[in-house]
Amino acid sequence: MIRELVDVVNGHEQWRGEETINLIASEGCPSPAVHEMYDRCHDLWHRYAEGMNDLDGFPTMRFYQGQRFIGPIERLAAQALKDLLGASFIDVRPVSGCIANMCTFRGLSRVTGNLRMVVAPVNYGAHISHDRHGLAGHVLGLETVDHGFNVEEMNIDPDESAKIIRKVEPGIVTFGGSLFQFPHPVRELADVVREVGGFVMYDAAHVLGLIAGGQFQDPLREGADFMTASTHKTFPGPQGAIIIANVDPDDERMRKAARKVQHSVFPISVSNHHIRRLPALTLAALEMREFGKAFAAQTVRNAQRAGEYLNENGIKVLGEAKGFTRSHQIAVDVQAHGGGKAVAEAMERANIILNMNMLPYDDPKAVFDPSGLRIGFQEVTRRGFKEGDIEELCDLIIDVLLAHRKPEEIAPDVSALRARFPDIHYGFGSVDDALERMGQ
Ligand SMILES: Cc1ncc(COP(=O)(O)O)c(C=O)c1O
Repeated sequence: MIRELVDVVNGHEQWRGEETINLIASEGCPSPAVHEMYDRCHDLWHRYAEGMNDLDGFPTMRFYQGQRFIGPIERLAAQALKDLLGASFIDVRPVSGCIANMCTFRGLSRVTGNLRMVVAPVNYGAHISHDRHGLAGHVLGLETVDHGFNVEEMNIDPDESAKIIRKVEPGIVTFGGSLFQFPHPVRELADVVREVGGFVMYDAAHVLGLIAGGQFQDPLREGADFMTASTHKTFPGPQGAIIIANVDPDDERMRKAARKVQHSVFPISVSNHHIRRLPALTLAALEMREFGKAFAAQTVRNAQRAGEYLNENGIKVLGEAKGFTRSHQIAVDVQAHGGGKAVAEAMERANIILNMNMLPYDDPKAVFDPSGLRIGFQEVTRRGFKEGDIEELCDLIIDVLLAHRKPEEIAPDVSALRARFPDIHYGFGSVDDALERMGQ
């Protein structure tokens, strides 16, 4: 079995790490320095640090001894992310975006005592954790009602949603999603949510790197009360999540909300919080201060160029009215080319890794063979692709879609394109490089 284990690990690293081009919109690409920092942390891998935090997100009381360095490690992570994102409150302990969502939904619904939540519909792009069929409904017993949605604009319809929020009077209204091309109307709806006594919750799992780089919307300044995010999609950190907010010391309702959310993290949902990831997360945050703007801007330009180029070549890309995307991803309708499942599999045979995706007009039962693809450009951007390289990549995608050649014949060309981009950009080359470049 050891031989088999070594072979599958090596096989994966070679195939996904070297030979294929990754366009999965929910995956990240840390720098060599962030990888190195993660690899340095051996002892931390298996330590615990259960306990309490203050409302700045810093550890206060811990139940275990041996915290001499773990405390500062957690503090640095909290501080670096708060500085980067402009927040006063943070919890760096949720080990994934789903857990961060669960803790936030639970905490906020405990403050209001209101179990109704208005969310984007799943087939219009929301994450299943927001939905009555996911943890919001099945774990927390929340009743979810859908936002209004405009398919032409691929966005929440603010007028429709305002009516829904006033009618339903929810305790929480969520924004953000998994199929997520355009900034959601937080600014337009935040006051309506407050009018009915609810909290605004923004799920930035996909777009945290774009927000940190100042190239998407700025939810906390637009009216979101709490923001959750994975730290490993457009944000180039290790897998994990954060919850952030701005808690005014004089705002007793927000203080109560932050305390309830924190209590939902520990002791309710997280016992060990995978401390090993925190130094790498801190370094990723420091990197984003240096390189985040350039990375996020190029990512959006690459995604936009892909949308335009595919569209010019007769492929149906959604959101044309608004320029296809303002984020790292595009949505493509491939019904005419065999449907999402068959096309995603053909792409894989051509060494292009992406995922099939529901589109807004799909029947929810079409989840195993939806009509679309979701394509993300954050990883190729980190590998150094610019607009011209994106066009080259799109030509290979078009070859698969239009069956110009067999996928197996296209695969070597994809690997050759990948091989031209061996380095990771927009990050430090090593921990020593980081120290030197930051003059420390
Ligand atoms: C919008 C959104 N929220 C939450 C999650 C869950 O994040 P995680 O995989 O870190 O649990 C995802 C996953 O892709 C997502 O797209």
